[in-house]
Amino acid sequence: MYKLSASILNANFARLGDEIREVEDLIDELHLDVMDGHYVDNISFGLPVIGTLRKEFSSLVFDTHLMISHPERYWEEFIEAGSDILVFHLEATPKAFLILQRIKEKGRLAGISLNPATDVRLLEPVKDLLDRVLIMTVEPGFGGQRFLTPMLRKIEQAREILGDRVDIEVDGGINPTTIVEARSAGATTFVVGSSIFQSEDKRGEILRLREALAT
Ligand code: DX5
Ligand code: ZN
Repeated sequence: MYKLSASILNANFARLGDEIREVEDLIDELHLDVMDGHYVDNISFGLPVIGTLRKEFSSLVFDTHLMISHPERYWEEFIEAGSDILVFHLEATPKAFLILQRIKEKGRLAGISLNPATDVRLLEPVKDLLDRVLIMTVEPGFGGQRFLTPMLRKIEQAREILGDRVDIEVDGGINPTTIVEARSAGATTFVVGSSIFQSEDKRGEILRLREALAT
C-alpha cells in the first residue's frame, strides 16, 4: 500500500535510460520533476524527455510533478506525453478546479501540490476531485535539500481534511529516517531523489527505504 516514486532530478542525464533500468523493477512510480525557471528558480526538463522515456519504459507509472507557471496551458500536453498521474501546484494557477476536472475526464489520476508555506485547508473546495495531494517537504526547485520537520503536522492536517481515500505524497529530503516520520504522519507515497540516484548502491538504498517502511 505504500508507494516509492523515484525522482530522476539528480540522476545522471547522460545515461538516464540505464539509470532508470537499474531500479525499474524495484520502484512503484517514476517521478518526473518539470521546472520552468519561472515558478521555481531552476530549469529541468520537459515534454520531449517525458515522451521519449514513455517509449522506452512502456509499463512504468509516470508521476509527473509540474513546477511551472500556467499549468492550465500545458497540462494536456503532459498527459499526451505519457503521464499517468499529473500533479500541479495550487499556487501556480487560478484554475485548479478546471484542470483537475479535465485530467480526470482524460482518465488519468490528478493531484495538487502545495509549497511548504501554503495552507492545507485550501484543498477543501477541491478535495472530491483529488486522487493525490503532494506535500512539499522542501522548498520546490532543487533536489538534495533537508526535510522540513514542520511539514509533519501539515501531513497530519491533510489526512484529517482528506480522509483515507486520497493518496498523500511527500516530496523532498526523504531518506530511511524521514520516510518513517512521514509515514507515521499519514503519508502513503514517497518521492525519493538523491537518496537513490546519488547512491553508489541504488538498489540497496531502495531496499533500505522499503525496510524502513516495513518497521
Ligand atoms: C524538488 C523536487 C523533488 C526532488 C526530490 O523540487 O520536486 O522531487 O527531486 O529530491 P530529493 O529526494 O533529493 O529531495
Ligand atoms: Zn517532485
